[in-house]
Amino acid sequence: MFYSIAIDGPAGAGKSTIAKKIAKELEFIYVDTGAMYRAMALYFIRNQVDVKNEDAINAACKKIDVKIVYENEMQQVLLNGENVTGLLREEEVGNMASKTSSYKMVRQTLLGLQRDLAKTANILMDGRDIGTHVLPNADLKIYLTASSAVRAKRRYDELLEKGESANLDQIEEDIKQRDHQDMSRKIAPLKQAEDAVLVDSSHMGIDEVVAKVVEEFEKVK
Ligand code: DC
Repeated sequence: MFYSIAIDGPAGAGKSTIAKKIAKELEFIYVDTGAMYRAMALYFIRNQVDVKNEDAINAACKKIDVKIVYENEMQQVLLNGENVTGLLREEEVGNMASKTSSYKMVRQTLLGLQRDLAKTANILMDGRDIGTHVLPNADLKIYLTASSAVRAKRRYDELLEKGESANLDQIEEDIKQRDHQDMSRKIAPLKQAEDAVLVDSSHMGIDEVVAKVVEEFEKVK
């Protein structure tokens, strides 16, 4: 039997930054499920699939094969055999993933893959529905959130650091829109699992959040 830790929360809450650090500290495998939805979104973008047409999405799903491999302990996403990991963080891909992840067939395509990964190693998996749906028996569930203003500011700083231009108000609007899409969809919406520990990182540093999660894990292991 392997341990599993589920970290769910809205876009920009810092899940992947935190999850990578915790996985390193506990020597767990980090599984980024958002990247899987993004890989599918990339396929829809590249093939100009009409996101409003569920039949077209369903037909496209049959042509998509998503695989996860690890290189130097870093997750790599293969889309029909092509390593697309470096293409997934674009805003356009994330927005498309938020829209297309509401479809049943898209979620079904990834659910088995996600559950199978949890059978192979101690894992820390992050996403939107891990504690509520993918791994309902996870040993520890964390709901990591922060106010939309704080999440927008973090994203804004990140973009400026990369030398890109950014509009803080627009970023916060986009974040709110994404929250709404992720929380209001019918299938496996983003919500805090009843047995999840709520961590609001609005006024916490990264190391503080990491320490809190590791402390919670020590209690349940
Ligand atoms: O965490 P992220 O920004 O990489 O995720 C991109 C989108 O994928 C997110 O807006 C909603 C969807 N997603 C999901 O529906 N379920 C998950 N477990 C992970 C992501």
